[in-house]
Amino acid sequence: MQMSRYIRCLFAALCLAGAVAISVVSSPLVSDMDACHDDSTESVNAWVWDGMPPPAYAVNMPQIVALTFDDGPHWLYTAQILDYLKQENVKATFFVLGAKAKYNQSLIRRMSDEGHQIGNHGYNHRSFIRLSNKSLKWQLAKTEEIIETITGKSPTMTRPPYGEYSNRVKDVVTTPLILWSVDPRDWATRNAEKISAYVIKKVKAGDIILLHDIRWSTVKAVKEIVPALKAKGYTFVTVEDLLTSVYGGLNQQL
Ligand code: NI
Repeated sequence: MQMSRYIRCLFAALCLAGAVAISVVSSPLVSDMDACHDDSTESVNAWVWDGMPPPAYAVNMPQIVALTFDDGPHWLYTAQILDYLKQENVKATFFVLGAKAKYNQSLIRRMSDEGHQIGNHGYNHRSFIRLSNKSLKWQLAKTEEIIETITGKSPTMTRPPYGEYSNRVKDVVTTPLILWSVDPRDWATRNAEKISAYVIKKVKAGDIILLHDIRWSTVKAVKEIVPALKAKGYTFVTVEDLLTSVYGGLNQQL
């Protein structure tokens, strides 16, 4: 009787010790798995290009730069920029909003017909990191659908509004995320001379210049930036052509 009680106690003690041991061992494992999931790059679809060429590529960098215009199309300013780019035979990239593309279809068609690249900037400029996966997928798919219906081509690049992204965003977005390397803050200064002076001073081969085709000051600045950079020997290309020329393609993980 005593013996069996002793064995039961011993058994209970061993169980308790085992449970404690399991919980001690398992808690770091569980948290490691969580951390691993957060930091995992295995399931990440999109890669991010911040416009800063790695030093290895800077050696024989061609004298090319990419002008990018966000937040349009604007019925007047985008049309004026397209007129000017056509006149100067300059190719650019427009990261458009679905909500604006929907009501400015002829401008989207012009961009495509005149050799410019069209990228996805979301539907209505909501920060991607603040959207649920479902909402983010909707924003991207809706904008893509609008562009594809007008041009027959899906955008191959995405620029997150405010440049904000996370690992979760990278998991949801299925195209490269394109940031920029020269930002004259044209939306804030609204001063053509300041915008153009900043870009002309800062630009170097391989740069991606961030502008917004929604202000008159930016239209005016573009007319100063293009001749000044042409005079310095730069050629303007789309982001896709820039990445293909410098890095060998869009799917290159830097
Ligand atoms: Ni934007």
